[in-house]
Amino acid sequence: MSSDPSSTIESVLQESRIFTPAKEVADKARIRSLAEYQEMVDAAMSDPDRFWGDAARKELHWFEPFQSVLDWTNPPFAKWFEGGKTNLSFNCLDRHLENGRADKEALIWEGEPGDVKRFTYRQLHEQVCLAANALKSLGIRKGDMVALYMPMVPEAAIAMLACARIGAPHSVVFGGFSAEALRDRLIDGEAKAVITADGGFRKDKTVPLKNAVDKALENDACPTVTSVLVVRRIKEPVAMKTGRDHWWHELISEQSKDCPAEVMNSEDRLFVLYTSGSTGKPKGVVHTTAGYNLWAHLTFKWIFDIREEDIYWCTADVGWITGHSYIVYGPLSNGATTVMYEGAPRASNPGAFWELIQKHKISIFYTAPTAIRAFMKMGRTVPDQHDMSSLRLLGTVGEPINPEAWMWYRDVIGGGSCPVVDTWWQTETGGVMISPLPGATPTKPGSATLPLPGIEADVVDTKGRSVDPDEGGYLVIRRPWPGMMRTIHGNPKRFRESYWEYLRPSSKEHIYFAGDGARRDKEGYFWVMGRVDDVINVSGHRLGTMEIESALVSHPAVSEAAVVGRKDELKGEGIVAFVTLEIGRAQTDDLVHELISHVGTEIGAIARPDEIRISEALPKTRSGKIMRRILRALASGDEVSGDTSTLEDRSVLDKLRS
Ligand code: WT7
Repeated sequence: MSSDPSSTIESVLQESRIFTPAKEVADKARIRSLAEYQEMVDAAMSDPDRFWGDAARKELHWFEPFQSVLDWTNPPFAKWFEGGKTNLSFNCLDRHLENGRADKEALIWEGEPGDVKRFTYRQLHEQVCLAANALKSLGIRKGDMVALYMPMVPEAAIAMLACARIGAPHSVVFGGFSAEALRDRLIDGEAKAVITADGGFRKDKTVPLKNAVDKALENDACPTVTSVLVVRRIKEPVAMKTGRDHWWHELISEQSKDCPAEVMNSEDRLFVLYTSGSTGKPKGVVHTTAGYNLWAHLTFKWIFDIREEDIYWCTADVGWITGHSYIVYGPLSNGATTVMYEGAPRASNPGAFWELIQKHKISIFYTAPTAIRAFMKMGRTVPDQHDMSSLRLLGTVGEPINPEAWMWYRDVIGGGSCPVVDTWWQTETGGVMISPLPGATPTKPGSATLPLPGIEADVVDTKGRSVDPDEGGYLVIRRPWPGMMRTIHGNPKRFRESYWEYLRPSSKEHIYFAGDGARRDKEGYFWVMGRVDDVINVSGHRLGTMEIESALVSHPAVSEAAVVGRKDELKGEGIVAFVTLEIGRAQTDDLVHELISHVGTEIGAIARPDEIRISEALPKTRSGKIMRRILRALASGDEVSGDTSTLEDRSVLDKLRS
């Protein structure tokens, strides 16, 4: 455990503003009061099998009913809704064709150069069936892993749903990751096929995705990959390897529109999504069919209090869990209209988001604190020039939001009348865990407020004992929930160790440790403080410090590297790397730049250090452990406080200071 959760974010300790849901909001809401919320909480706590069982029967379509709700006989390996047969793609598409939503817009896509595409549920269903048959024509069968390395185009959502339709687990790799990072994930996941595009538009440039796939597959590095399906997007020439590579549009045009959804067992694998942990290698988080579907569905319905006429927009990328649960699966399972945007706000187009809200009359908007802080810095002139009166609800996700940014979001974007839901969750949790319910929960700027019904969250010490109100501790979940990750792909041991055995409860309890520090106030509100492990959160993107360190030491000039996070006003955290060089290598500006771009090549641009400090030595204990606490203080320009007596060589500290 590397940092003390009780010592972070002082400002939130002083926060005392409370916003009670307005009567107009509460009156129209599904869950209208704290009392109603509390009733649900009590029902879920006293009879969880009944609570979850009823919800699963009511909210999902089942080809065959489940026989049991939760099997927790072999913790931490949970099984939900055993015996049940269902299909996520069916729940997101087919059932809406029967219930009057066939001609309702399912997906509105806004391309970066300004092109727009709209799909009704009927049209989306058709596209997914075509894509599913295309995958089958490549020999992809139930259980085969399909990797996606895509820009934010409709085909990304279509491909995910097509995989789910035929029971092929998908592994979406964020299009900002490098060829090397993609290769690692293809190998680890034993992917049979890769779906990509000739390239994507990112800010004012194009990104050559297909070239990166070619590089990842070079020298037969991923022998399991037999096909590559390529969406034409940027229309730049790419090399197509005969027998392996196929154009999406060509293959699709040869398919039948008929593709019944595969009947899946509740616990069949739905997808793997890689995320960073405290050790070097990213973890393939495994989610399964029914539990994940239910959790994405329920949380979306509760938190966004979705209505038939809503136009909902989440600004995440499908490469992250937020895109999975709250661009694609949660909204579509609920029959909502979801907006997907290929672009990103940037200096040359600071009003991009607000224009889209105005243009599509977005009613629910879900984004990240880092974006809000960036807009806040630019001032309110640009947002004020747009008509955003269609908005009724605002959400935030990905990192702690500072009360100032929360207030700005509420006042400037929400016109002072939209509830703000700060949603805490993780790749591992499948869906949101702690969040206000807009019609029920009074909000406090900077707090994710209260756990959702059925979620027993707590703040504990290292032994798993609840700490007192307002004391810092580790954020944990005390009971299983349907959307929980099931394991780490290929590494159940690591799953057990990193999440369930990190804390040492005195009892035989199985407590899920999230990796975050938190505080609960006297009203039971959660204030999440950020990671307490060696994971940093840069603009809502999770990165393991050890991953970046491995990338640095893979450069021939580097002998040792230690990476720490530093508070950053915009990004939440920035990346600072301390590096020692191999003998004979000179410290030059060129080398620093080379190292930064080397990390970009190894992992992706999001992992590029903001600063690299080259020094003669790193501060270590006598047993050779790098003292990150000291490096964190140095990176932030803080006094090095606390005990430094275990330092092996005290002069190292003086050298680093200078
Ligand atoms: C980590 C999970 C969940 C989707 C996006 C990130 C941090 C997330 C909040 C929030 C404070 C938050 C945590 C968590 N985090 N949401 N509302 N308040 N912190 O998913 O990449 O799996 O990262 O993001 O530190 O552990 P992820």
